[in-house]
Amino acid sequence: MGLKSEEKLPAHVVIFPFPAQGHMNCMLNLAHLLCLSDFHVTFIVSEFSHRLLTKNTSVPATFGVYPGFQFRAIPDGLPDDHPRFGDKLGDVVPSVTNNMVPFFKKMMADEDLLASPHRRPVTCFVADGFFSFATDFAEENGIPLVYFRPTSASYFWAMVSFIQTQNIPFQGKPMDELVKGIPGMEGFLRRRDLPGFFRTDDVNDNVFQSLTVATRQLVRAQAVIFNTFEDLEGSILSIMLEKLPRIYTIGPIHEHQKSRLIEKGSKASIVAGNLWEEDRSCIDWLNAQLPRSVIYVSFGSITVVTREQLMEFWHGLLNSSQRFLWVMRPDSITGGDQIPPELMEGTKEKGYLVKWAPQEEVLNHPAIGAFLTHSGWNSTLESVVAGVPMICWPYFSDQTINSRFVSEVWKIGLDIKDTCDRLIIERAIKEVMKVRKDEYLERADGMAKMAKKAVERGGSSYTNLDALIDYIISLVITL
Ligand code: UDX
Repeated sequence: MGLKSEEKLPAHVVIFPFPAQGHMNCMLNLAHLLCLSDFHVTFIVSEFSHRLLTKNTSVPATFGVYPGFQFRAIPDGLPDDHPRFGDKLGDVVPSVTNNMVPFFKKMMADEDLLASPHRRPVTCFVADGFFSFATDFAEENGIPLVYFRPTSASYFWAMVSFIQTQNIPFQGKPMDELVKGIPGMEGFLRRRDLPGFFRTDDVNDNVFQSLTVATRQLVRAQAVIFNTFEDLEGSILSIMLEKLPRIYTIGPIHEHQKSRLIEKGSKASIVAGNLWEEDRSCIDWLNAQLPRSVIYVSFGSITVVTREQLMEFWHGLLNSSQRFLWVMRPDSITGGDQIPPELMEGTKEKGYLVKWAPQEEVLNHPAIGAFLTHSGWNSTLESVVAGVPMICWPYFSDQTINSRFVSEVWKIGLDIKDTCDRLIIERAIKEVMKVRKDEYLERADGMAKMAKKAVERGGSSYTNLDALIDYIISLVITL
């Protein structure tokens, strides 16, 4: 391809998320924001995820209006009937490392960094912050690397600081003791709030090691994108600048996408990268409920609970006397157990069960008064934007830190981590939905306003996205 014709072509960004729901949906939102800026985007997915996106969502159709967008579906090496999520997620990590990553590298080499007469070679590689292979790969191929972290900035900062300063593991030490050595979090972060993998007895533990390596690699990237906004995590972000000079906070990214679409007067629809079919009957059910009377219960796409925990939640919900809408994925009970029939039957009067909900729409429904959540970062941000107070039952990873921020820093909910007791659940629901309802709603509403302002023209995330776009364009010029 001659340089002359290439000069006219826009920047070409390759985006490669870890193939899990909570990583893909926010990185699809990023892809959409870049398409709206007329970039060419190649989005790497597993063949499995691509099949689900095609079957259950309008995502391929939405991107169909952008001729510069392309999916590249590559095999993850697992059998077709492998569920990939729930308690089988553990199989996905090695399959990505051993199959998707080598396939991706080969594809990039064979196709000369995906160049074609209509597409310039890759300008910039946006890799999931989970992918430690990306730093060496980008350096070896001379491609600028931008990491995208689908988790909170505070979680990243806690990881970096803790890995450098502490003795790990801390098994056996008092869990309620405050953690020292994490600037910005010294007054409120307890050992209990650190991700579960710090509780391991074995520093060679696979998950612990791979996350530690991935966290350390981040500083080698040219830039890092966080799905957050300055009014939410500003105090931590300013401290982080010492370690990461080029940070772009452009969240809440799902809301940012909407704001840019409206501003552009675009006819493209919103990208909601849900892998599972949404059961919209829950919206009809919500339409028949009183304002702020329903608690929405969902633990994301990965969490699994035991049958005993499930029953504690159920009794806690029933005893709270509040109505509830509960997402129960078919793979959400450990060991592949089925939902107990008495629970299905006994829920009909007070509640409604679905396998997968249109979550954003649910959270924005006037009937919703609170969200019982596992504190996944996407769910947390979606609740923040909707102004819905949370009751947090974090499951793993970043969620234990997110929930501490919800309760102690932003004060928009309660954190019931490390317990699963019907009485505690009942009391927490009554506290958030009755006793201190107005107080929680007022603070959540204030936070929602800040979130929306951040993604409107002049807001911090809006300005930062413009800066990111300019940065990527500058990479084209200097290549
Ligand atoms: C994972 C991690 O657990 C999370 O902590 C990390 O920050 C990102 O990746 P997940 O556990 O699935 O994701 O939780 P979360 O981040 O909350 O993402 C779940 C997504 O699925 C949300 O965007 C939510 O809107 C969507 N969802 C969930 C639905 O659309 N319908 C549902 O019924 C349940």
